[in-house]
Amino acid sequence: MSYLMSNYAPLEVTFVKGKGCYLTDTQGEKYLDALSGVGVVGLGHCHPNITAAIQMQAAELLHTSNWYHIAHQETLAERLCKLADMDNVFFANSGAEANEAAIKIARLHGHANQITNPVILTANQSFHGRTMATLSATGNAKVQAGFSPLVSEFIYIDFNDVSAIQAHTNNHNIVAVMLEPIQGESGVHVPKDDYLNQVQSICQANNWLLILDEVQTGIGRTGKLFAHQYNHITPDVLTLAKGLGNGVPIGACLAKGKAATLLTPGTHGSTFGGNPLVCKTALSVLDTIEQDNILEHVIQMNEYLVSGLQSIATDKVTEIRSKGLMIAIQLNQDCTELLNAALQKKLLINITGRSIRLLPPLIISQAEADIIINTINELLSAL
Ligand SMILES: Cc1ncc(COP(=O)(O)O)c(C=O)c1O
Repeated sequence: MSYLMSNYAPLEVTFVKGKGCYLTDTQGEKYLDALSGVGVVGLGHCHPNITAAIQMQAAELLHTSNWYHIAHQETLAERLCKLADMDNVFFANSGAEANEAAIKIARLHGHANQITNPVILTANQSFHGRTMATLSATGNAKVQAGFSPLVSEFIYIDFNDVSAIQAHTNNHNIVAVMLEPIQGESGVHVPKDDYLNQVQSICQANNWLLILDEVQTGIGRTGKLFAHQYNHITPDVLTLAKGLGNGVPIGACLAKGKAATLLTPGTHGSTFGGNPLVCKTALSVLDTIEQDNILEHVIQMNEYLVSGLQSIATDKVTEIRSKGLMIAIQLNQDCTELLNAALQKKLLINITGRSIRLLPPLIISQAEADIIINTINELLSAL
């Protein structure tokens, strides 16, 4: 019997050590982690720079609270704002919390404009987190099942369909559109190249905030530091988490322009958010991405992995969707069994319905990519 609540169904393996793209279990067996702890350890497990930053900061100062200035937090905020062309940041501890801040900003924006019942448009098949507001924002009945009454007011529209958003322009209660630039959890759905540009134009014409949830797509995952940079746009609100801490819990909600003026003293907060330890770690993540030309490497490894996967693609594969190192292999049949089959072959992957999802560390080498390609080939042949 376990003393843990039953909300997870973990695979039968316990990892005790990590290095680069590999994890080692209690028996000393090594596994190739093609999922990066669900898109978190972009720089790999126990990257020496990150370990050193954590060790140094842990010996210096872990926590003070946001009732005092925190130097590393201010440095990290400036760095992120300059990188993303945003004005300011609120630090939280997770993606869901970063999105909670974004939703609160959207509501404040509505109230500032005399909208007393503010509504946010979000996409079907999206994922924004597991708190009450973020699961309500999530356009997926499975995530919401059992938790009604949901937080109102979200209206779900089809992703990658500009007209679905345009159709709501006569609803004067709408204050924001909240989207993932690429839908991750539902299986790497990449929209048309100019989708976000068109959505932004509609938002600007209607005084709606454009909120981009880059919790999964951010921090180099797609080959740009932020996925929306492919569109040369700047959102009003941008949320980050996962890869920003490479394993230490951090979330960030960045805002620009009018959206950056709405949180005032007493309107939002977090005890742990942005403490010296996580901010120092995140700074070291950003340094390492820059110093090691990680973004360029992600683009090269996308080409290598995707062409390798295409070359093995059997008649069971209907499509390979990808941007950077977010990759989904769509099959013509259910492939749930591949989760355990891959584990037996010492490869960690994710299955989303009929697709295999890969989020390998951004530092993955060609030799490691070959192992992924060959193992998936074996798995598909046996399916
Ligand atoms: C796009 C997106 N938003 C939000 C979240 C929630 O983040 P967290 O689990 O850190 O709360 C996730 C997690 O997978 C995500 O992929």
